[in-house]
Amino acid sequence: MTAPLPVHPAMIDPAPVGGAQEKLVHVALGDRAYDIVIGRGVIASLGARAAALKPGAKAAIVTDDRVAPLHLGAAEASLAAVGIASSRVIVDAGEGAKSFAGFERVCEALIAARIERGDLVVALGGGVVGDLAGFAAAAVRRGLDYIQVPTTLLAQVDSSVGGKTAINSSRGKNLVGAFHQPILVVADTALLDTLPPRQFRAGYAEVVKYGLLGDAAFFDWLDANLGQVFCGGAAREHAIATSCRMKAEIVARDERETGDRALLNLGHTFGHALEAAAGFSDRLLHGEAVALGTALAFEFSVRLGRIAPAQAARVTRHLAGAGLPVTIRELQAFPGGTPDAERLMDLMAQDKKVRRGKLTFILLRDIGKAYIAPDVDPAQVRAFLAEKLDPR
Ligand SMILES: NC(=O)c1ccc[n+]([C@@H]2O[C@H](COP(=O)([O-])OP(=O)(O)OC[C@H]3O[C@@H](n4cnc5c(N)ncnc54)[C@H](O)[C@@H]3O)[C@@H](O)[C@H]2O)c1
Ligand SMILES: [Zn+2]
Repeated sequence: MTAPLPVHPAMIDPAPVGGAQEKLVHVALGDRAYDIVIGRGVIASLGARAAALKPGAKAAIVTDDRVAPLHLGAAEASLAAVGIASSRVIVDAGEGAKSFAGFERVCEALIAARIERGDLVVALGGGVVGDLAGFAAAAVRRGLDYIQVPTTLLAQVDSSVGGKTAINSSRGKNLVGAFHQPILVVADTALLDTLPPRQFRAGYAEVVKYGLLGDAAFFDWLDANLGQVFCGGAAREHAIATSCRMKAEIVARDERETGDRALLNLGHTFGHALEAAAGFSDRLLHGEAVALGTALAFEFSVRLGRIAPAQAARVTRHLAGAGLPVTIRELQAFPGGTPDAERLMDLMAQDKKVRRGKLTFILLRDIGKAYIAPDVDPAQVRAFLAEKLDPR
């Protein structure tokens, strides 16, 4: 087992109060370093920032057909204000766009728009658009610069940062992709005002994840300010910036996930199996599966005697308080009825985290102290799941 993640001092700004001030988080990756700009209204600065990074560039904005009517105008206006000509590539909203066909469409559109090495791709949307446009940017002309303008909470705190890009194979999610870092991330928190509440809640699961895996003080703060984070304003910005800072630190230490970037998978081993059982559909959103997976990771850590039951209970209470699922039996997400432990074990075994018959899990010693356990006995997991599924 690897050492626990060191607690990060100062993950919390001293005074997260006041109005809309812009926050900057730097992702320190040498010649691939970039900034994340966070705040209400920061999309207005997209053009000036793009012009400063890539003088003389033109741009193609990739977005989806739900985001386009809401926020494409603001992105285009900001680029136009500094003389950057832009074209649009609009894909269908939803996970289906992360396909070979979707990838081909975006690549062909970028080529047709004559986007060259001196130009820019702008990914305006949630994680689907970010992953798809990022992968197209990695591939077209062997690598174009791109800017992430994330429009979901999940994308603002997670998928837009770190350079993982991918599409799905018929055999599984994110199996075809590349590491390709953006040159800038512009996270305008005002764009989240139009996000459906269920999508916001799902993204919030990833926010809590950061506190739970490495920053107990941040979790305490979230526990005390949950309502404020959901209402928007300064608390929301603070939560997003703190999450980005943590992701940036982890990515800077371990860009290609050879070590502790895997901690970001807290809740994801159980979560992916549940998502797969629900057919990767709107019946169970990724963040909902992660919330439940996180609750299970805490309870499983209790079962293995690694953490006190009261800690797990506190986390479960928090997630449930945010409106997220915390028990498998409460889900109505499975087309063929609730899967049994054996089925979930099969799905976990397919999820590339098995080595020599052992499962890798992210477990917890405490709130804020996650560690990678590469040697979990599947029999213990099976017994644990069987008990969680037992209706008694
Ligand atoms: N690259 C990474 O590191 C990484 C990390 C986590 C997740 N992901 C990927 O991210 C994807 C999920 O991303 P997501 O949860 O953002 O989903 P999404 O991109 O599908 O967005 C969710 C829905 O919200 C709509 N939407 C987006 N922004 C909106 C806004 N501001 N107002 C109203 N509607 C809006 C979208 O059109 C879509 O219908 C998955 O494919 C997952 O694999 C990638
Ligand atoms: Zn996730």
